[in-house]
Amino acid sequence: MTQTIQWFPGHMNKARNEIKEIMPEMDVVIEVIDARIPYSSENPMVARLRGQKPVIKILNKADLADPHLTQAWIEQLESQDQVKAMACDDNKTVEVKRIVQLCKQLMPSKVGTGRKIKVLIMGIPNVGKSTLINALAGRAIAKTGDEPAVTKSQQLIKIDDDIVLYDTPGMLWPKIENPNSGYRLAATGGVKDTAFDFADVAGFTADYLIKAYPELLKDRYKIEELPQTDWEFFEMAGRNRGLLKRGGIVDTYRMSEILVNELRSGTLGRITLETPAMRESEEVMVAELRAAAEVKKEAKLEEKRLRRLRARKNRKN
Ligand code: G4P
Repeated sequence: MTQTIQWFPGHMNKARNEIKEIMPEMDVVIEVIDARIPYSSENPMVARLRGQKPVIKILNKADLADPHLTQAWIEQLESQDQVKAMACDDNKTVEVKRIVQLCKQLMPSKVGTGRKIKVLIMGIPNVGKSTLINALAGRAIAKTGDEPAVTKSQQLIKIDDDIVLYDTPGMLWPKIENPNSGYRLAATGGVKDTAFDFADVAGFTADYLIKAYPELLKDRYKIEELPQTDWEFFEMAGRNRGLLKRGGIVDTYRMSEILVNELRSGTLGRITLETPAMRESEEVMVAELRAAAEVKKEAKLEEKRLRRLRARKNRKN
């Protein structure tokens, strides 16, 4: 699988520039990430722009994620400078209180002074940011960027006498450098179904689940012994489900849709698609990909330069 998933509509570019502009004024950043893919749903821009500003990482949809890995991720994230992390699930009551408390602990000098703690909240589309904002505000707030009448893509939401939230539209980044992250974002519903080849994403997902969650697959799709490859798995599971086309051929595409939908809804079980150890090795891979792309770019520039020189020489002759 070599396809890289790219998804960056124009309005996200505008939002990105606006975030760059207001970041220096902010006291705290809340980044809502997906507990099933804490690495792939993290916006690289946050790390670049926040400097020494504290960030609270909310591992949302923790009810769908593997609880042991969620704990491992929290520890890994909190080992970074100025990072607090917490899991958050469907019932947000306890977490909301903790988030408010944390913001005040991080900026004690502003509490009770009338000067507001400015909190920027961001997260990829569909991560559950609006649901969290509504819980924090205690009322329904229109989604930022979804209101045609709102010209700015940010909006300010008063949380209490001390905290004001700066909401931003759900956004991805210009280039998802790690192809695995692209597939995981697609598998969990972070990028639109139209932005990728569904069969590739389902294949990637099945490959991982066969290795990491064999018992869940066996239970759900009534398979005694799991096969080695994704397509054999779709074939076997599809047959067990009676997904047959004319001539008795298994509808593997339909089966791949079922797998991804059941992963997204949590029917398959509590699953996390990446571990802190995978992050470390994939970051090395991304650095290598970046270096290779840089070498290619340099070589192209050099070739262009030589072509120009040759053309000039020919003109002189
Ligand atoms: P966004 O602003 O980041 O785009 O996300 P939004 O809050 O609209 O939430 C996207 C979907 O995620 C919603 O489901 C929402 O209910 C669900 N969601 C939010 N937080 C959690 C969570 O902690 N756990 C789980 N399991 N789901 C969560 P939807 O199907 O799009 O809509 P609906 O179910 O609310 O009708």
